[in-house]
Amino acid sequence: MSNSQAIFLQKGSFCSSSIVSPQVGLCRSNYPQLLARKEHNLQLRSFKFPGRLQVHCVMEKETNLSSSRLVDTVTESLQEADVREPSVSTILMNFENKFDPYDAMSVPLYQTATFKQPSATENGPYDYTRSGNPTRDVLESLLANLDKGDRALCFTSGMAALAAVSHLFGTGDEIVAGDDIYGGSDRLLSQVIPRSGIVVKRANTSSLEEVASAVGPQTKLVWLESPTNPRQQISDIRVSLLWSLQKIAEIAHANGALLLVDNSIMSPVLSRPLELGADIVMHSATKFIAGHSDLMAGVLVVKGERSDNPNSSTLYLPENAQKIAEFLASHPRVKRVNYAGLPDHPGRELHYSQAHGAGSVLSFLTGSLALSKHIVETTKYFSVTVSFGSVKSLISMPCFMSHASIPAAVREARGLTEDLIRISVGIEDVDDLIADLDFALKTGPAA
Ligand SMILES: Cc1ncc(COP(=O)(O)O)c(C=O)c1O
Repeated sequence: MSNSQAIFLQKGSFCSSSIVSPQVGLCRSNYPQLLARKEHNLQLRSFKFPGRLQVHCVMEKETNLSSSRLVDTVTESLQEADVREPSVSTILMNFENKFDPYDAMSVPLYQTATFKQPSATENGPYDYTRSGNPTRDVLESLLANLDKGDRALCFTSGMAALAAVSHLFGTGDEIVAGDDIYGGSDRLLSQVIPRSGIVVKRANTSSLEEVASAVGPQTKLVWLESPTNPRQQISDIRVSLLWSLQKIAEIAHANGALLLVDNSIMSPVLSRPLELGADIVMHSATKFIAGHSDLMAGVLVVKGERSDNPNSSTLYLPENAQKIAEFLASHPRVKRVNYAGLPDHPGRELHYSQAHGAGSVLSFLTGSLALSKHIVETTKYFSVTVSFGSVKSLISMPCFMSHASIPAAVREARGLTEDLIRISVGIEDVDDLIADLDFALKTGPAA
């Protein structure tokens, strides 16, 4: 055995793993001392997280240590230590760039559709960008890392990612989907997916009873958003410790179904549904992950080996959204505000038990279509767009825009009324945004 080795260990396991060639990762000063205490003169130089722990250590003296004892020693030492998982900002600054022979600090952009093969009969690591591209691999591994998944798959849009998930299922299979979800997802579920013989059932996923009665032996997928878009309803995703109270992940798993969470409205910074029991997390990366309204992308992040078959991240200033929600809630011309950060939101406690913040998207009702239209058209710092998740503040009327494809009667039955305004709060000065909304509210027609 050489005297400088990298070792891969499953986090939390005592069993040995293979010893491979040296790799260097993040340095942590407390671990060398920890291992120096050990009898084998090992010095831990570096480690990487998550999932598989990669340790790079050096033996100071030649010893007779077998590789499995070496692994056991390192594992024991790490278990004694309280190994800290890196936070989001650290993960973002320490992405893998293994493929680059020059160790560039920034990720090189491989703007190529195809790659030369080493010979007529041999394949290189990449052949065609649709199947694989080193730049995309870096992005996928970073996104998997952020969401604590095993694998991430990037797509040209959020809808492409969702459509790919639907191809996992076929005739006779059932999908149970939330009834207050993005209009494009609604269209995919109501107009496209059933053409493959898949039965789509809808349920209010903020009611565990409704989910439990909709899910059955044919259900292969439960699909939800939390908070929902645009009404900000909260669903209880977690795998519960109380056997008597089944949460959505358990209900799905008990019936052999997967749980998909469309997390576009939260991003991995605020919520990581895989940790709560979901099997597939989807992001419209067009939103908060890209953050500047300048590109389209979709991501699926998955856990487990079988799920990889289908084929300046900013979260803005949630304080801005909180202040705007509070301002709107206290305004006499506003009838209701939907925002999980408000004390009277019925799902507030549940939401904060699963997420780190209420995010930057909220919606509100004025009780008057004319007033709502006036507000959307009068505000000068909020751009009227169908999207959300930009550094710039955005405003929309979902019934006429992102959710227009849902039939009016269905929208009404779901409580999605035409006066609903959705706001995606950006990084402008919050007082300017509030003054802008206040002016629009005050100058609007009488209800
Ligand atoms: C919650 C949600 N999911 C999925 C999508 C679709 O993503 P994309 O527009 O990137 O295809 C959107 C788009 O608005 C969305 O709001």
